[in-house]
Amino acid sequence: MRALILAVAALQLALQHASATVGVLDIDNLLQPDLQQNLHTPSEDHPHAPWSHKPYCVTSTYLPTLGQKYCVYTSNTTGPHGLSLIFPPKSAHLASEYLDDNPLDNFLAQKDAERLYLGGQPWKIVDIPGKAKGVVATRRIKMYETFMVDQAAVVVDMGAEKALTEAENKKLMKRAVNQLLVPAMIRDMSSAHAGKSHGGENNGDDEEGGSLEEAIMKTNAYGSTVAEVSSRALYPLISRINHACNPNSFVLFSRAGVSMAIKAYRDIEAGEEITVSYLLLGIPFQKRQSLIKRWGFKCTCSLCSLPTDERQASDLRRTMIAQAEEKIMELAKAYKLDEAIVLAEESVELIKEEGVWSMLTDEYAMLAMLWLEKGDGEKAEAYGEKTHRLLSDLGFLGIGEEREAWKLETLLKNIGGLGGMGQLWKKGPLRG
Ligand SMILES: *[C@@H]1O[C@H](CO)[C@@H](O)[C@H](O)[C@H]1NC(C)=O
Repeated sequence: MRALILAVAALQLALQHASATVGVLDIDNLLQPDLQQNLHTPSEDHPHAPWSHKPYCVTSTYLPTLGQKYCVYTSNTTGPHGLSLIFPPKSAHLASEYLDDNPLDNFLAQKDAERLYLGGQPWKIVDIPGKAKGVVATRRIKMYETFMVDQAAVVVDMGAEKALTEAENKKLMKRAVNQLLVPAMIRDMSSAHAGKSHGGENNGDDEEGGSLEEAIMKTNAYGSTVAEVSSRALYPLISRINHACNPNSFVLFSRAGVSMAIKAYRDIEAGEEITVSYLLLGIPFQKRQSLIKRWGFKCTCSLCSLPTDERQASDLRRTMIAQAEEKIMELAKAYKLDEAIVLAEESVELIKEEGVWSMLTDEYAMLAMLWLEKGDGEKAEAYGEKTHRLLSDLGFLGIGEEREAWKLETLLKNIGGLGGMGQLWKKGPLRG
């Protein structure tokens, strides 16, 4: 019983996005042409290696972090956009190990990588009526297909906001963007700026400004943990994807937190807008409205626009799903296994009705554990299989290993840290 309780408690933990590494892919060079060069040790040509630019630092005068330096570190050979970090020196040193964090290694098997890179991206960034910009599918995308990958261009330690003055933060941010390969592409993410500049003008050597860059980070960055630092990370392509409370896609972070991928929850038709949820899945209407305000828009996706009675029915299901997990644990603790099973099975139906599929992994895992505890190995196996298949489809088992044989025992043992599947907060504070 203890095992069950522990495992169920572990379900609450934040997800460590799994990522297996596979062998070296032939097409690495498509994304990172300079990967083969050793840029990691300083030399005459690369005096600041692994960084391409001289680190630029500001020292905190804020009492709790007095004397702490925050610097801009740029590697313009990392990923398609280059990468700038605003980090303390020690964290930057740690992060330098992740500069080769390639989406191809993290999310795609060779066959999928070839289809994506050689067959052309199945999406494009377009103007969306009523919204600034968005991403739409350019061909049919299959359920669970990994169809978009990206690498962070700017990563900022969340601690910097408090440790430095607003002017200092903006100054660092501006430099971080200017030193990338694609400063204009980043600045165009602001609707106020889009179209006003062509190419590199306003890339100001002036040390003023930075408001634009900061505003872009505020509204577009994702919360991500990079080199153990709670950060805001800007992914120039993926950050273009708009929010929906019943999204057709979800995000995966690499273990290093620098790469990111988008997978489809369901089949997506050509022309359909790609959406992800910036909020935890499964929360009710009022809460969605208040949480979504931070991005400066009202929730108007189909779920938020339902007629009142249908919306209330949806809210009721969501509340019941949320409460069921706690009740199932209580029942399990009291060893009322039959009741716990009935409740978990009801919960499965509610989740299906709400279409928040990724939440099923928790229910399936709990059912596997409950049946195992009851001594019905066959049923436990069946639910274990469902858990495994869904985790694999959702991309949480990494690549390469998912189709291999699995064991119920190992699955249940490893299931800790499985909560929050397919869920994220866009723009931190990420983990509490
Ligand atoms: C990367 O940075 C170095 C050092 O500042 C610079 O010489 C080089 O031109 C940059 N590369 C690109 C592609 O901008």
